[in-house]
Amino acid sequence: MASISQLPLAARRLDGKVAVITGGARGIGACMAKLFSRHGAKVVIADIRDQLGQSVCNEIGPQSATYVHCDVTKEIEVENAVNTAISKHQKLDIIVNNAVLAGETKPSILDDDVVEFERVISVNLTGPFLGTKHAARVMIPAKRGSIINVGSVCSSVGGVATHAYTSSKHAMLGLTKNTAAELGKFGIRANCLSPYFIANIAAKEFFKLDDDGCAAVYSNLKGVALKEDDVAEGALFLASDDSKYISGHNLAVDGGFTTINPVFGLYSES
Ligand SMILES: NC(=O)c1ccc[n+]([C@@H]2O[C@H](COP(=O)([O-])OP(=O)(O)OC[C@H]3O[C@@H](n4cnc5c(N)ncnc54)[C@H](O)[C@@H]3O)[C@@H](O)[C@H]2O)c1
Repeated sequence: MASISQLPLAARRLDGKVAVITGGARGIGACMAKLFSRHGAKVVIADIRDQLGQSVCNEIGPQSATYVHCDVTKEIEVENAVNTAISKHQKLDIIVNNAVLAGETKPSILDDDVVEFERVISVNLTGPFLGTKHAARVMIPAKRGSIINVGSVCSSVGGVATHAYTSSKHAMLGLTKNTAAELGKFGIRANCLSPYFIANIAAKEFFKLDDDGCAAVYSNLKGVALKEDDVAEGALFLASDDSKYISGHNLAVDGGFTTINPVFGLYSES
């Protein structure tokens, strides 16, 4: 069976590291799993899309990738995903809390349903909390580790997505900062990685956009389209020792979207 080949040893930035990636069966998470393995990491993909997750592992190769069924809202399944990394590889260096439920888009808060709100919070916030807790359980005795929470521009600005999604992504940044505060004394880093709109399956579904609609989405940075690979590169940086003194940070991969105001000012778009 063909597998993704690793980079030459000198170029590998995660050689010998072990990573759990939640939501790694497709999209950005699958891209991260492939990039991490090219850089020498062993990856455990934790997802609920079993067939897709297994096929990403097959593509990477069974030496480097393992699939485990894991609903991130269920503590026992998150515990099992972390324990799978330990039983296969005897350690855990990195967890990427990437799984997401975008939820239903409604035009008004008056139409929002509390059950749906809580479902989104459960995957997008309780999930990363459980991932952080169980990663910390094995990282604390090892006195090292990198925890990466995949946020969004919705971690720092309002108005882009639903109330549930925006609330969950803001709260995830709070969780990241609190984790960095508590676990720094054990040499464990926690960071958030916050992309802007990527024209992938998930975002097209969420925003109900076709290719033309995606191409017309506002971007501060002209002439560059954000890709899943770009976010995976950000995760690689936060996972690797290249970022060894970076903790409690929100790394925006958004072309400046969250730090500029295009509506009013000298350089505004009129
Ligand atoms: N796509 C974008 O434009 C965009 C923009 C900003 C941030 N993000 C963030 O990037 C991350 C990845 O997004 P994506 O676009 O690849 O989404 P995606 O929908 O393609 O992938 C998400 C994965 O999470 C899994 N998942 C859903 N519920 C789960 C659960 N309960 N337990 C375990 N796994 C579960 C899905 O099966 C899927 O494989 C998310 O955290 C998202 O918020 C995406």
